[in-house]
Amino acid sequence: MASTSFQFSLKPSINLKSSSRSQSCNNLSLRFHETSLSLVSSFRSDSLRLNRSSNVSISSVSSKSNRIVASASAAVMEEPSTNSSTNDPTIVNVELGNRSYPIYIGSGLLHQPHLLQRHVHGKKVLVVTNTTIAPLYLEKVTSALTHGRSDIVVESVILPDGEKYKDMETLMKILTKAAESRLDRRSTFVALGGGVIGDMCGYAAASYLRGVNFIQIPTTVMAQVDSSVGGKTGINLPQGKNLVGAFYQPQSVLIDTDTLNTLPDRELQSGLAEVIKYGLIRDAEFFEWQEKNMSALLARYFKSSS
Ligand SMILES: NC(=O)c1ccc[n+]([C@@H]2O[C@H](COP(=O)([O-])OP(=O)(O)OC[C@H]3O[C@@H](n4cnc5c(N)ncnc54)[C@H](O)[C@@H]3O)[C@@H](O)[C@H]2O)c1
Repeated sequence: MASTSFQFSLKPSINLKSSSRSQSCNNLSLRFHETSLSLVSSFRSDSLRLNRSSNVSISSVSSKSNRIVASASAAVMEEPSTNSSTNDPTIVNVELGNRSYPIYIGSGLLHQPHLLQRHVHGKKVLVVTNTTIAPLYLEKVTSALTHGRSDIVVESVILPDGEKYKDMETLMKILTKAAESRLDRRSTFVALGGGVIGDMCGYAAASYLRGVNFIQIPTTVMAQVDSSVGGKTGINLPQGKNLVGAFYQPQSVLIDTDTLNTLPDRELQSGLAEVIKYGLIRDAEFFEWQEKNMSALLARYFKSSS
């Protein structure tokens, strides 16, 4: 592979000695070879000082895997368990009293049915996904849910793809499917997709019969590092984004990093920009880790654009 260089430029950055959560940044920009991605953030600070840029030659990445190892980010999360083998997930427990839940992170997790099945309530499951993700992962998820469990019935609803469908009309498709399938209070909704699907499925789960069990299987970087965790769910109104919603925690979040192999480059880049922002805002050590590992994180991008 020909040597490719890219500029990784973040400005302004944070005072690396500070761990305050009030830090912020006005402008983050990531410049890739012949591509640029800008992200204007919504936070503020008085301690912004650092200006960094580095040119990295990544001619050696051709032998690397074309996969993003998102579980690497788990190293900065609190109290992750240690992996005993490559297929054991990293488990991050979100401690919320009786609403606590685990996040499983790793490669090949959709081939480990017990990780999903242990969080299924009742015998009926509704998988909510979209027209892009269904052909890629719906069968795999259905197999994982039913493996060795002939008593589990899996229904699915396949929504149109796009932020513009994160609305009341599309939400009704989920609720209608749930009612037509006679899903009862002891049913489980599974969100299979990016943040749009996660937000809509979560809100449907919060609303249907005043709340049913809910599992997140996020398939974008953005959803894996942000929207699937924290319990924010909702839909847009013509008047604005996320104007209707609920805080509703999932039973579990299953992050199979292999799903990122099919993610379009543009989605990959914008998800990574979000991750870089976290390092800048609150974790200098993580930010430095990203600087050291950026070429590996972007290996697939450079491979496909070379
Ligand atoms: N709830 C929260 O806390 C929270 C936080 C941040 C953002 N959000 C919401 O998340 C949404 C954005 O989410 P997003 O960035 O994941 O976008 P998205 O859900 O629209 O997904 C982006 C695109 O990638 C496709 N895709 C997803 N996974 C794929 C895969 N593995 N392979 C191939 N294609 C795949 C999708 O079909 C879509 O076309 C917004 O609606 C935003 O409001 C919610």
